[in-house]
Amino acid sequence: MKILVTGGAGYIGSHVVKELIEAEHEVVILDNMSTGVKMNINPKAEFVFGDILSTNDLKRVLKPGIDAVFHFAAFKAAGESMLRPEIYAHNNLTGTINLLNAMLANGVKKFVFSSSAAVYGNPEYLPVDESHPLQPENFYGFTKLEIERLLQWYGQLKGLRFAALRYFNAAGYDIDGRIRGKEINPANLLPVVMEVASGQRPKLLVYGSDYDTIDGTGVRDYIHVNDLATAHLLALDYLINNPDNLRINLATGAGYSVMQVIEKAREITGQSIEYDLVDRRPGDPSELYATSLIAAEKLYWKPRYSDLNTILKSMWEIYTNDISDQI
Ligand SMILES: NC(=O)c1ccc[n+]([C@@H]2O[C@H](COP(=O)([O-])OP(=O)(O)OC[C@H]3O[C@@H](n4cnc5c(N)ncnc54)[C@H](O)[C@@H]3O)[C@@H](O)[C@H]2O)c1
Repeated sequence: MKILVTGGAGYIGSHVVKELIEAEHEVVILDNMSTGVKMNINPKAEFVFGDILSTNDLKRVLKPGIDAVFHFAAFKAAGESMLRPEIYAHNNLTGTINLLNAMLANGVKKFVFSSSAAVYGNPEYLPVDESHPLQPENFYGFTKLEIERLLQWYGQLKGLRFAALRYFNAAGYDIDGRIRGKEINPANLLPVVMEVASGQRPKLLVYGSDYDTIDGTGVRDYIHVNDLATAHLLALDYLINNPDNLRINLATGAGYSVMQVIEKAREITGQSIEYDLVDRRPGDPSELYATSLIAAEKLYWKPRYSDLNTILKSMWEIYTNDISDQI
């Protein structure tokens, strides 16, 4: 099949492109490189430098022959979205509406969307399942939920077929080491821990140490990016072979605390990994982990690489063998 991947130069998108190409799909990437990494652009994909905010750029890529769209292009920093909601509204909402409208205008009806755990907000029970109330705590989560609602309407009114995949915390790097460009200015815990371990930052801040958790620090569900990638291909197959749409969690069901992450990273890297304990951040739940029962039942998906050891080892491999300055 021929698949358009928006944001295919980004962290998750580049891993999914790799898997699509290995499965012998043809891939067109549309990316404006705002956070994309040049060395992660797959040479076997057609790369179009462009923006989902530009209807002209969308016309260039939504040529006849595109069978499905995988949509990763977005801004994703929850904290920043509370300070600059207007840029999140523009990029995530306007950009996605442009993309969907261009798809429909060109008869493209299959859409795999990067949604997020942020659509749930603070969990009312754990593990979070797909029936959990949808009450985003930050503007970023609101943009993802609004897009899911739009998908529902476009599904009903225009026959759009969609899979909204609600990722929990994406982590790790390609298990075979074929994607080596690191995220620039990461905000998530694991890459920040890696930056401290490899000497790129002096220390990290641990937000909150008085939560009601195993050691007082926040607990999250980390999902390896290769496992996420596999789920995308399964979701596309599902849309081809079944009449219903999907809104599903991609998570492991297990949570690790910040201190457990730091301890495991110390063991793997042999580095001390300094940190400061600081106040909680508003809106951060103490614990967040989820079931992926629908993904298991409908896609036969099961995470293979999402234990903390494998995740951190795959990251340390990239952070210790940094080749980004050679490219
Ligand atoms: N990383 C996570 O833990 C996580 C969790 C839940 C959901 N998500 C979602 O997954 C998707 C991918 O996340 P990621 O971690 O790979 O982020 P990323 O920032 O690495 O990738 C986003 C890519 O989209 C591109 N992009 C952004 N705006 C664009 C635009 N207007 N036009 C064209 N290209 C544009 C960027 O250049 C980048 O290559 C995002 O939609 C994000 O919200 C990520």
